[in-house]
Amino acid sequence: MFEHVDHYPGDPILSLLEKFGHDTRPNKVNLSIGLYYDENGKIPVLKSVQAAAKIVQEKAEPHTYLPMEGLAAYREAVQHLLFGRDSAALRDNRVATIQSVGGSGALRVAADFIKTYLPDSAVWISDPSWDNHHALFTAARIQVHTYPYYDAVTNNINFGGMLETLNTLPAKSIVLMQPCCHNPTGLDLNHAQWKEVIGVLQQRNLIPFLDIAYQGFGDGIEEDAWVVRAMADAGLTMVVTNSFSKNFSLYGERCGGLSFVCPSAKEAALVLGQLKAGVRRIYSSPPLFGSKLVATVLHDADLRQQWDREVAAMRDRIKTMREKLRNSLTAHAPSVDGSYLVNQRGMFSYTGFTAAEVDSLREDSAIYLIRSGRLCIPGLNNQNVESVAQAMAETLKK
Ligand code: LMR
Repeated sequence: MFEHVDHYPGDPILSLLEKFGHDTRPNKVNLSIGLYYDENGKIPVLKSVQAAAKIVQEKAEPHTYLPMEGLAAYREAVQHLLFGRDSAALRDNRVATIQSVGGSGALRVAADFIKTYLPDSAVWISDPSWDNHHALFTAARIQVHTYPYYDAVTNNINFGGMLETLNTLPAKSIVLMQPCCHNPTGLDLNHAQWKEVIGVLQQRNLIPFLDIAYQGFGDGIEEDAWVVRAMADAGLTMVVTNSFSKNFSLYGERCGGLSFVCPSAKEAALVLGQLKAGVRRIYSSPPLFGSKLVATVLHDADLRQQWDREVAAMRDRIKTMREKLRNSLTAHAPSVDGSYLVNQRGMFSYTGFTAAEVDSLREDSAIYLIRSGRLCIPGLNNQNVESVAQAMAETLKK
């Protein structure tokens, strides 16, 4: 009956996590999946989230269904975090936001919507991008193309190439971009470059699709939303997907959001209706507990401040680890230019290691990177950074 079913070779990121789990070597280091580990190698439970959990549990409310679009307080908090409280688009009721099952759930609901209502639009993603971007849009039967992003020679952004391609796209093409902490390269456009991109999007009538999964891990919670706000203020019709997996350390609770910024309140209401219909057809309504945690933190002034501090501490630790790895790597391999480690931002660094070098790091030293050469910085700590640097240096000498 099912002999014809295609073999699934596994997901390039999630399979490595499984492999890491089965690895019995005591000195193993996970620098593969985008999980934030603290200095003790543990996935933190944020204090602000713990306090919110207590509040939620004490209320002992029934575990009823949420509406298809999710918890109202959560959706409002998503909007304020992304667009800012004084956003004109919010004031004019031009933003349709639903709570989603993580960032991936938001991407899939958006993809289905695009396939139905913009059937002739292809999606353009950066080369490279998060592996699942390609898979998610392809699964919705949308054509996926890439625009140049990473220049392996300079280990920087190929901004000229990116603009050149955007300048050739047909109207209503969807351009997927990451506002901060680009996954997998860790390379972000600066404000001047974003402004140029905004000009091209406007001129060519393109639709930006901003996927923000690391808000707060770059420069700050408000700072990292700069381009979301700049594009909304420029009057662009756009899609925004966001995730709280990392900045709330709530991976398994699947807390995300999907927002469409529309030209009018009337269109936003129509879009919201179809997003709800889409949700009903896939999973009916989103999960309750995580959304209550996020909403409680973001609506309580003290907890919100505490969360800001906790995000800042995660951001600072990432920066410190970037510096330590750079220093140790260049001490072990003086001919290597490790500056990319401190110039890139957020959880990931693109090391330029080949798949064979990544395999050798994993097999010889129990150090796990993604085979594209992406290294997840928060897997580093003061106990392992030196041995990781040494192993990286030895691999480069082979
Ligand atoms: C990653 O890129 O490692 C994370 O976004 C986790 C995932 O689901 O792939």
